[in-house]
Amino acid sequence: MKYNQLGNTGVLVSELCLGTMTFGGNGYWKAMGELQQNAVNDIVKTAVDNGINFIDTANVYSFGESERLLGQAIKSLGLSRDELVIATKVRGRMGEGKNQVGLGRFQIMQQIEGSLKRLQMDHVDLYQIHGFDPITPLEETMRGLEDVVRSGKVRYIGCSNLAAWQVMKANGIAEKYGWTKFISTQNYYSIAGRDIENEIVPMVQDQHMAILPWSPLAGGFLSGKYTRDNKPEGDSRRLEFNFPPVNQERAYDIIDVMQTIGEAHGVSVARVALAWVLAQPAVTSVIIGAKNTDQLLDNIKAVEVSLTNEQLEQLDQVSGNPKPYPQWMIQRQSSDRLGAYNFTPPSIVVK
Ligand SMILES: NC(=O)c1ccc[n+]([C@@H]2O[C@H](COP(=O)([O-])OP(=O)(O)OC[C@H]3O[C@@H](n4cnc5c(N)ncnc54)[C@H](OP(=O)(O)O)[C@@H]3O)[C@@H](O)[C@H]2O)c1
Repeated sequence: MKYNQLGNTGVLVSELCLGTMTFGGNGYWKAMGELQQNAVNDIVKTAVDNGINFIDTANVYSFGESERLLGQAIKSLGLSRDELVIATKVRGRMGEGKNQVGLGRFQIMQQIEGSLKRLQMDHVDLYQIHGFDPITPLEETMRGLEDVVRSGKVRYIGCSNLAAWQVMKANGIAEKYGWTKFISTQNYYSIAGRDIENEIVPMVQDQHMAILPWSPLAGGFLSGKYTRDNKPEGDSRRLEFNFPPVNQERAYDIIDVMQTIGEAHGVSVARVALAWVLAQPAVTSVIIGAKNTDQLLDNIKAVEVSLTNEQLEQLDQVSGNPKPYPQWMIQRQSSDRLGAYNFTPPSIVVK
């Protein structure tokens, strides 16, 4: 397991982060997984025993149950809180009330208290906004986040599912007032979903932020058990819950190539899919999900898969997207500035 700097901070996080969306299984979240305390303890122990020091949850996962089960697991297993980097999120709906959702100061102040109580912790290391709130001014959100940092309840702040301009606007506001800036962005990124390469990845590279990819197996679709001819039996999430959206015909072409590469390495398709995300520039820590310890161990072993340049090229050919405008124009115009200067002046004919 490698450890990477969490953006431009002094914190080192494992290149795999344990996702906890499979914990609890309340209501809407039932399809993700219904792991209860014993199973959660096994997952957390397996992750930590294998070098994972970074764990991601959210207030909204199973409406608080994921945080509660995680906090209890850390306590029951006797894990050192100081060795773990714990991330959670705020924004999602936590009740029926008009104000039990969003990113106003009102919600941030209330929700951090709820998260800390459920996690049985006095601080979280990374507090992420789970998405954009179209009605709260960004100034209010950034000031609310600054205050939870200053209070000692939060060490760093991050964002998730924002457009690049929204991240830059928020960080610009924070900089203007001397407040804490987002150090990370959590986004959907898989070999079948490469949209963030257009705006988010270049922004992150320019700003020295961290990218934390979520659903690196597209919710299990890229694990190898879904092929053109086969679907898994049982309670696999993607059978009933089509999220994140995937162009399935295109994904099957990618899975075919991953199968061949997996056979060459003697490893599962899931490991190839994760190894591809791990190999992408600017990726800090890939957030993996698992319903049981077999899946988790399979996924953890992805860190041992080293894809050759030729295999990366094959995967790029089957999964790459044409650059949208203005990226293709930026690339075209940049070649004149980034390549070797080789200007041949037009011949001037003076009569
Ligand atoms: N910020 C956000 O908006 C956001 C959104 C989504 C997720 N997340 C974070 O990202 C984490 C990971 O997301 P995800 O759960 O969607 O990740 P994922 O890796 O794309 O999907 C995980 C699911 O794939 C299946 N699976 C995993 N490993 C497998 C293996 N080796 N073999 C066969 N099947 C396997 C399991 O489902 P089945 O057994 O049911 O098929 C598992 O629950 C979440 O826990 C959460 O922390 C964040």
